[in-house]
Amino acid sequence: MTDLSALETELVNAIAAASDEAALEAVRVAALGKAGSISGLLKTLGAMTPDERKEKGPLINGLRDRVTEALTTKRDALKSAALDQRLQSERVDVTLPLPQSPAARGRIHPISQVIDELTTIFADMGFSVAEGSDIETDFFNFTALNFPVGHPAREMHDTFFFNPDEKGERKLLRTHTSPVQIHTMMSVKPPLRVIIPGRTYRCDSDQTHTPMFHQVEGLVIDKGSHLGHLKWILAEFCKSFFEVDDVKMRFRPSFFPFTEPSVEVDIQCSRKGGEIRFGEGEDWLEILGCGMVHPNVIRNCGLDPDEYQGFAWGMGIDRIAMLKYGMPDLRPFFEADLRWLSHYGFRPLDLPTLAGGLSV
Ligand code: DAH
Repeated sequence: MTDLSALETELVNAIAAASDEAALEAVRVAALGKAGSISGLLKTLGAMTPDERKEKGPLINGLRDRVTEALTTKRDALKSAALDQRLQSERVDVTLPLPQSPAARGRIHPISQVIDELTTIFADMGFSVAEGSDIETDFFNFTALNFPVGHPAREMHDTFFFNPDEKGERKLLRTHTSPVQIHTMMSVKPPLRVIIPGRTYRCDSDQTHTPMFHQVEGLVIDKGSHLGHLKWILAEFCKSFFEVDDVKMRFRPSFFPFTEPSVEVDIQCSRKGGEIRFGEGEDWLEILGCGMVHPNVIRNCGLDPDEYQGFAWGMGIDRIAMLKYGMPDLRPFFEADLRWLSHYGFRPLDLPTLAGGLSV
């Protein structure tokens, strides 16, 4: 017969030495599992005489109960030690900032933001958006806009030309958004009110010029439109865009082949301490060219200039973005530098609206 007290000591020691739940389970199986030492002893009870069973039964059952209890106590202790360890190692600092989602980290490029701002302002005045293609023909970029062949104004545009095609025609990268005036007048019956934001190209590069840049063209064609309408629209635009209550504008005579009369517009500003502010000060800053659409241009589009007249303007988007958001150099706009974009870019969900504010 097994020495019960030696077995108990052995089991109690093994239980005490178990360092994790798996080791403890192994001890339990060795004692109380199907082929366990205590289970083996319990099985011997059946073959005993009643007297023998009376004597050994309580001893073996007592052993089983004490070992079962020791196992339970040890399991509870191991469980709570494991929990304590997890709580130590998995501690959460609830004061840490939340990690940002990709949507929150992304930024809208200032040019896209300014195009959205322009669209919002002019949509409120009843303008729709028209678009053309970056590659144009000489006819749309120059001839239809009343630049006669050989006229010196063509040379001022530093045009990028493609190689001549089989018909000898040289396509070009549009030098301004004005050719879309022609496409629009040829395809939409007046009255029409459109703005045309888009990419334009000239062979030029310095702090304020890049070979690719952006313009927004405006065009209104109707029977009774006149310069007074143009002045009002531009003044309203400047107040909304620069977010000031009032802005003084100066109209200077100028020359563009596609407008007559042609005008350049300056807006009042102050330049104290190298910072430009609008709606105050004594200085002037040129922001756009405009004029009444030349009768030749209207005629080139198949319309009768005695019936229809209108006005147009063209403005550099990059330039007004630099002015509004205080960016000193144009070149980083197109360098795809994430540090620049995270500094000057806009949050994707801060959409410009007239009611909510354009540049919040
Ligand atoms: N296309 C001109 C340029 O790129 C800008 C311009 C001036 C557009 C007068 C116009 C306008 O529509 O009326 O320099």
